[in-house]
Amino acid sequence: MPVAWLIAWLLWNASAPAPTRNFPQAPAGARAADRDAGIKRGETLFTRHCPICHLGRPSESRPFIGRNLRGTLKNAKPPQEAAVREAIRKGNDRMPGYQYALTPAQIDDLMAYLKTYN
Ligand code: HEC
Repeated sequence: MPVAWLIAWLLWNASAPAPTRNFPQAPAGARAADRDAGIKRGETLFTRHCPICHLGRPSESRPFIGRNLRGTLKNAKPPQEAAVREAIRKGNDRMPGYQYALTPAQIDDLMAYLKTYN
């Protein structure tokens, strides 16, 4: 009875789950833990590379070579974030660029930390 087979096949096919394009999402707790780990890595990178110029001794009248970066990314909009990332990547005449010293992922971590550095 080929018609019955055809109907059975159509029914089976219709009940098969539709292929999904969504990637599985990590649970919220895991995402928060990832974010915190990134901020922590960013803090380590910041402490290693930046304070020599961007922090100074409070006793000095001009403590900083570069300005204090506190609050740089406070409530920053995407264009402002992009500008800060570019400033870190390219540097300037008194600051080395970090585009070769740090990987893009490390610069992401540094940016994540700077957002909390207020
Ligand atoms: C050799 C000294 C030096 C080091 C090391 C250094 N900077 Fe700078 N940085 C400067 C100077 C000088 C400027 C430009 C003047 C200013 O903004 O204070 C500057 C500017 C910046 C700016 C732009 C500030 C603005 O107003 O938009 C950012 C962001 C920045 N630095 C981030 C960093 C980060 C992050 C690190 C560590 C990965 C770092 N810098 C390491 C000296 C340095």
